[in-house]
Amino acid sequence: MPNADQGKLTGQAAIVTGAGRGIGRAVALRLMREGAAVAIADIAIERARQTVSAIEESGGRAIALSVDTASRSSVDAMVASAAEAFGRIDILVNNAAIARSAPFLDQSAEDWADHIGINLSGVFHCSQAAARVMATAGYGRIISITSIAGMMGPLDFPAYGAAKAGVIGLTRAMALELADHGITANAIAPGPIDTELLREAWSPAAYSARAQHIPVARLGQADEIAYAVLMLAAPEAAYITGVVLPVDGGAAAAGSYMSEKFRRRSVEAPG
Ligand SMILES: NC(=O)c1ccc[n+]([C@@H]2O[C@H](COP(=O)([O-])OP(=O)(O)OC[C@H]3O[C@@H](n4cnc5c(N)ncnc54)[C@H](O)[C@@H]3O)[C@@H](O)[C@H]2O)c1
Repeated sequence: MPNADQGKLTGQAAIVTGAGRGIGRAVALRLMREGAAVAIADIAIERARQTVSAIEESGGRAIALSVDTASRSSVDAMVASAAEAFGRIDILVNNAAIARSAPFLDQSAEDWADHIGINLSGVFHCSQAAARVMATAGYGRIISITSIAGMMGPLDFPAYGAAKAGVIGLTRAMALELADHGITANAIAPGPIDTELLREAWSPAAYSARAQHIPVARLGQADEIAYAVLMLAAPEAAYITGVVLPVDGGAAAAGSYMSEKFRRRSVEAPG
């Protein structure tokens, strides 16, 4: 493991939203290991403090910030605090999100608004606020965590899927406009990753069967998303912008053919 002051991101500062647990926490730790100072921004401040402790124990620099990404004033305060603490913002990782399932016919308007507010408007608020700071320096990396549910029709997650598809559209728009300011904007679309969000959103039966619906026949790990974030956050990634990178064990590549692969697997290993 590289020393905290010897990495690719030495001297840089990052904000990772929703970094109190799961993928965001793994991303924050990965960026720290490459030398970045990291603002751990989460609506659950106690979780954020735990991630900060883990970073400090590894010799890195981090601060915990309370934020509700759905609230513009909360996001503005969070970005201002990070910029003041570190004197710069080089990297923003839009990771905070919620995922609640409901069949389309039962989808409540309230839950719909929560998903759009946190998962899509939250990406807009954080990106615009951070990009205004990045633009003054003429450099930035915005990486938004969408989902393969934003690339294909998810079952029982209409609000989540719509918000994540919106993140892809916003990423492309930002890539075009922010290019003039030295800022790249990209999205990562994870397949199912073994985190608490997934365990809370799926039944135990769906959870255990799901691996067989992935070409590589396993769920992904949070560190595997963190690795992709690091790749897009690096200074060397300057020519990559406006892309959506699936990190999904081949799920998006398989598309509807996965159902046939699943059938064959079931025949080969019944029960
Ligand atoms: N886990 C998966 O299988 C999977 C798959 C595809 C995409 N994703 C995406 O990856 C990201 C991280 O997912 P995860 O599995 O680590 O989730 P998680 O639920 O484990 O962590 C999400 C974090 O975001 C925080 N958060 C929630 N609402 C917030 C708000 N309004 N403001 C600030 N913080 C808020 C939570 O407190 C939590 O710490 C999300 O964008 C999710 O949609 C996850």
